Amino acid sequence: MIFERVKPLDAILATAEKKGLHRSLGAFQLTMLGVGAVIGTGIFVLTSEAAQKAGPGMMISFIIAGFVCAVAALCYSELASMVPVAGSAYTYTYAVMGELLAWMVGWALILEYAVGASAVAVGWSGYFVGLLNNSLGITIPTAFAVGPSQGGIINVPAVVISGLVTGLLILGTTESARVNAILVAVKVTALTLFIALTVPVLKSDQFIPFVPNGWGTIGVVGAASSIFFAYVGFDAVSTAAEETKNPQRNVPIGLIGSLLICTIFYLLVSAGAIGTLGAQPVRALDGSVLSPGTPELAARCAQIVASGVTEPLSCSKEALAHVLRSIGWVKIGNLIGLAAFIALPSVVLMMMFGQTRIFFVMARDGLLPEKLASVHPRFKTPHIVTVFTGIVVMLASAFLPVGKLADYSNSGTLFAFAMVAVSVLVLRRKDPTRKRPFRTPLVGVVAPLAILGCVGLYLNLPLIAILVLPAW
Ligand code: ALA
Repeated sequence: MIFERVKPLDAILATAEKKGLHRSLGAFQLTMLGVGAVIGTGIFVLTSEAAQKAGPGMMISFIIAGFVCAVAALCYSELASMVPVAGSAYTYTYAVMGELLAWMVGWALILEYAVGASAVAVGWSGYFVGLLNNSLGITIPTAFAVGPSQGGIINVPAVVISGLVTGLLILGTTESARVNAILVAVKVTALTLFIALTVPVLKSDQFIPFVPNGWGTIGVVGAASSIFFAYVGFDAVSTAAEETKNPQRNVPIGLIGSLLICTIFYLLVSAGAIGTLGAQPVRALDGSVLSPGTPELAARCAQIVASGVTEPLSCSKEALAHVLRSIGWVKIGNLIGLAAFIALPSVVLMMMFGQTRIFFVMARDGLLPEKLASVHPRFKTPHIVTVFTGIVVMLASAFLPVGKLADYSNSGTLFAFAMVAVSVLVLRRKDPTRKRPFRTPLVGVVAPLAILGCVGLYLNLPLIAILVLPAW
């Protein structure tokens, strides 16, 4: 039975000792790594999409998505502290539920990380193109600024940034983590500035109606399924467990700490955007709801802007910069744009980092060709898988739009998270006495909630994204 071919935990730990990566990360670096992976395109770009679905109710969407991540993170922490090796959900599933499911989870994680990295690269490209245009008056022709579905040919900026990040990852983890820490500071400063300028002047009538499109797939819960992407990446912390000093203590701190910091930021930022510019969905002339990412919405947005009215939040490709400009902080709005431009690559970096480590462990386990697992003699990084990942990310970001990539990425992530929660329950039963440096509190409630939450969000994704996972 292939389900019975598990890799015993002790064997996993022994392999890691033998063929391991260098342990160099501490609790602070790990939390920064988490924040670096989490804050990104979700809040900077996809806030517009959430507004179009949920209106001011997107605050509830952020809470729903954050809650599902929190219960999943508690499950992650138990396994990450027990199995402190690279590979995250993939490694845990291998240890608990066998080779076949592990192989499936490994591929789902490729959706999460590689496709997710592409989504962020495309989101970054939007800011880059906008910044060149607004501050230097340079226009990149549409053909080379967006993919085919938006009227272009190839998204050159997204390809270039993915290539640069690949190079950085080959040079080494410590260097990458250091660069990451600086970029995280830029991002956190930008969001703090945004909050400081918007929250004190928010108007309560902007929050009414609070739930304009209802609670369903095109309303608050649907927005939660898409905005879930804003939280994706915290598990990159657990993929770095093998390179962490004292992982038993540091990994749970990194996971839960980074999630908490991000949730607070998201709630304050969305409150600021809603309360100033407003976040009511853009409707067709007959009053019907328009879906985000459709040509119909784009056409309606163009009409509204042409009429001289301030561009609605749902129409903006640079949501946060646009909010500040619209309330009179033009220069600071541009600075926020600059911060996104500088800092979003750190998210691409973390997601690709997670991806290379998963490929690395899968290859080490023989589920991918073993040659992929070789470590560069000088840089001590798995350079072959890094180059391979870079090519995949460049191809996806060259041709697909950000919202679609984010939703595809979510479908893989939700599957992987659900499997982790199942693994925790199975392992508690199969191996109850094993030492657990971190125990998921109230596991009988938390793990089932994580499973239900993931399934619920998955079922509220757009249909294509739902179908991508089984096809993959
Ligand atoms: N959570 C990350 C972002 O929003 C993936 O960009």
